[in-house]
Amino acid sequence: MPRLDDLTRPPGRPARLLYGGDWNPEQWPEETWAEDLRLMRRAGVTTVTLGVFSWARLEPEPGAREFGWLDRLMDLTRAHGIDVVLATPTASPPPWLGRRHPETLPRDEDGRTEWWGSRQHFAHSSEAYRAHAAAITEDLAARYAGHPALVMWHINNEYCTYDWGDEAARTFRGWLRDRYGTLDALNTTWGTDFWSQRYASWDEILPPRRAHYLRNPSHVLDFRRYTSDLLLECYRAERDIVRKHTPHLPVTTNFMPFWSGQDGWAWAAEEDVVSVDVYPDPADPRAGAHENAFVADLTRAEAGGRPWMVMEQAAGAVNWRTVNRPKPEGLNRLWTLQAVARGADAVHFFQWRPSRQGAEKFHSGMIGHSGARGRGYRETVRIGADLARLGPRVAGSRVPGPGIALLHDWHSWWAGRHEGALSGHLDQGDLVRTWHRALWEAGLPVTLAHPHHDLAAHPLVVLPHLYLLDDTAVANLERYVAGGGRLVCGFFTGVADPHDRIRPGGMDARLRALLGIDRIDEWWPLDPDGPDARADCGTFRGTLWSEELVPAPGAEILASYRGGPLDGRPAVLRHGRTRYLSTLPEPRALRTLLAEAAHEAGIHPVVTGLPDGVEAVRRGDLLFLLHHGRDPVTVRVPGRHRDLLTGATVDDTVTLDRFGAAVLEEHP
Ligand code: GAL
Repeated sequence: MPRLDDLTRPPGRPARLLYGGDWNPEQWPEETWAEDLRLMRRAGVTTVTLGVFSWARLEPEPGAREFGWLDRLMDLTRAHGIDVVLATPTASPPPWLGRRHPETLPRDEDGRTEWWGSRQHFAHSSEAYRAHAAAITEDLAARYAGHPALVMWHINNEYCTYDWGDEAARTFRGWLRDRYGTLDALNTTWGTDFWSQRYASWDEILPPRRAHYLRNPSHVLDFRRYTSDLLLECYRAERDIVRKHTPHLPVTTNFMPFWSGQDGWAWAAEEDVVSVDVYPDPADPRAGAHENAFVADLTRAEAGGRPWMVMEQAAGAVNWRTVNRPKPEGLNRLWTLQAVARGADAVHFFQWRPSRQGAEKFHSGMIGHSGARGRGYRETVRIGADLARLGPRVAGSRVPGPGIALLHDWHSWWAGRHEGALSGHLDQGDLVRTWHRALWEAGLPVTLAHPHHDLAAHPLVVLPHLYLLDDTAVANLERYVAGGGRLVCGFFTGVADPHDRIRPGGMDARLRALLGIDRIDEWWPLDPDGPDARADCGTFRGTLWSEELVPAPGAEILASYRGGPLDGRPAVLRHGRTRYLSTLPEPRALRTLLAEAAHEAGIHPVVTGLPDGVEAVRRGDLLFLLHHGRDPVTVRVPGRHRDLLTGATVDDTVTLDRFGAAVLEEHP
């Protein structure tokens, strides 16, 4: 199976990290191409992504093929020693497709059409869309299969289109038939006796369109599953076409970081290289650094611990926030090194050069509108030099495991987001981030994991909140703890089965037995905007949630609610090697609690006694030190090291300036 390693550790050549970005030269006069390539070379760019949105250029009218410009571009890129990640252009169909085949345009839940004029206006279920996408992919792959510049395929771009239209209704019914076999089974599973929703014919089933009041949560959950599956079908179809032509080249599609619409675990299993787009807000460098760390730990986990790729990040400002701040000097470099520290072997940007026209003219590029003399390009050159220095030592190496496993599952997240929930403030995506941030701030090594993964190697598993847990997951947790594992489990977990049916007792009975809970009588969400925003738990305050739980014999009560409606009730339990948190401790308390659990499990911070704002990450036998603060700091690293970024020898201490970094190897 082709891998990123094939590109970063080519036989007979030194190992390297990939560095580059989306390049859209079709937006520029052809005379400028060579100059761009020259500037890329100077910056150490290894790879460019071409053709992401080029469909209308490649196929100006149905069936026509205009490959000449791309031939010249591929040849020129190759001549400059730069490799190409070639995209299938199917994320943005040309206007003629929508005009001739209106059914290729998706509909929103109100039935409104998403017209051409922007991008991603394709109905994943439309046969016409799929046929045209397959045809252009086939011809593109056939034409460039043997081109020496081509090193990887990039399918579509950030798959993210929902569709509530008629084409979707048709395939949704097919998907449901496959899943349930009979209408009776569907009616029972969805509980359609509620509000007279019983279906008498498959044709009555629609995507969950706008309705008068709350929709059936099992229906909505299945629609989310179906959407992820249908988009995955589109990906697979194109992947299989390019694979047929180039079985030796890796294929990827870029994830939106932690987007709720794709089951990332299922998708990643279908990719040769897992890639992600990550756009933290530079207005808050510390929060941004955490976002990067979180996305990196997730993506690395999806890649099974193997090296992964940042397909897109911004060199400076994006153009889709209310206020779009550039990155202050040094931040782009720091965040790039952070991705590498956490396992990326390829860092690409959106994009090489900002467009002068179109919706993204204010989006930054590796070379800004101020050109080669600008600060942006200078930093691009510096980063390229850093990556070139690190490549031979870093490429292909792993972030040592197993560390703490942080559990996340998309299906549970989807189910927990239904209308009619107990608290509109509860969101699994937020909670998994919050717990990850606590672990990150404590400097603890962590990876994300699916609740079905083999957890045995992890000394500690933390589960912030999984509303929905299937039997396999519950059995997996039982097995893990029985085998000696330690578990910290957050509230409102194991509440529903895979069809979003409530499990009696407030939580799955096997899980209650594991956690020392007899039953949960009531869930008591806390209103972050109300007078009861915080619950006094003695040594800390709980937020967001609380529970009226009855402990089982043998459970030890570590903290109890004081005052308020749950006065005297347990807030935190310990039972054997498990802990249960019925509330969300405030950040500092959560950090302390998780750090204690890690300590008991024998997991320690990568480096202890770090100054505030410094992150330490091991990759292979190297130690990355990353300073996310502005004031210079001194870090103690006993012994003699060499900083690969500067070549300097480091004896016992290293000083890091604002947004500074060091990559240390033991002195030979
Ligand atoms: C991504 C997209 C890119 C570009 C970028 C801007 O979502 O894949 O094409 O639009 O955002 O930040």
